[in-house]
Amino acid sequence: MSLFDVIPYMPHVQAFLNAVAATLLFAGYRYIKSSNREAHKKCMVSALIVSTIFLASYLTYHEAVGYQPFEGQGWIRPIYFTLLFSHIILSGVAVPMIVVTVFYAAKGNFTKHPRVARWTLPVWLYISISGVIVYLLAFHVYPPEVFVWETLSSS
Ligand code: HEM
Repeated sequence: MSLFDVIPYMPHVQAFLNAVAATLLFAGYRYIKSSNREAHKKCMVSALIVSTIFLASYLTYHEAVGYQPFEGQGWIRPIYFTLLFSHIILSGVAVPMIVVTVFYAAKGNFTKHPRVARWTLPVWLYISISGVIVYLLAFHVYPPEVFVWETLSSS
């Protein structure tokens, strides 16, 4: 089995990983609000693992496939590209924020951890949820006429 055999499945798996990460982040937040520190930690570490797998898969996919043109026309285009660009830019911003948030938690600094985490959490949630919306728009609401990977494997 080569990378090209799994590429067609990757956008679906990536959207699923984003949805799982968003669910874990919501759950982790609910847990810390009810003072369940152990469950909060488990949810957040799991979200970190899921998002790391997502990022590795996302980078591999785009390295291999490049850009899949968006088929939507008219009013949906500015909405789609605003979502897509904000998703990409915030993904870059989120990485150091997540590192700092986890660093303070790992050090047991629970004065600084929540201060940073209150910014990290909404950014991370936005990335996960916008990722799912971008996927739904690009692959289901306005499905591609030609999938880029089909042209790659036949060339
Ligand atoms: C990057 C992942 C994480 C995020 C986004 C996150 C998010 C948050 C947020 C938003 C709060 C503040 C909740 C509030 O508004 O009161 C918080 C508090 C807390 N977090 Fe995390 N957290 C993460 C990882 C961890 C880990 C790995 C641990 C365990 C080692 C942990 C332990 C705690 C504790 C103990 C508090 C409560 C601090 C207090 O006494 O106010 N967190 N976290």
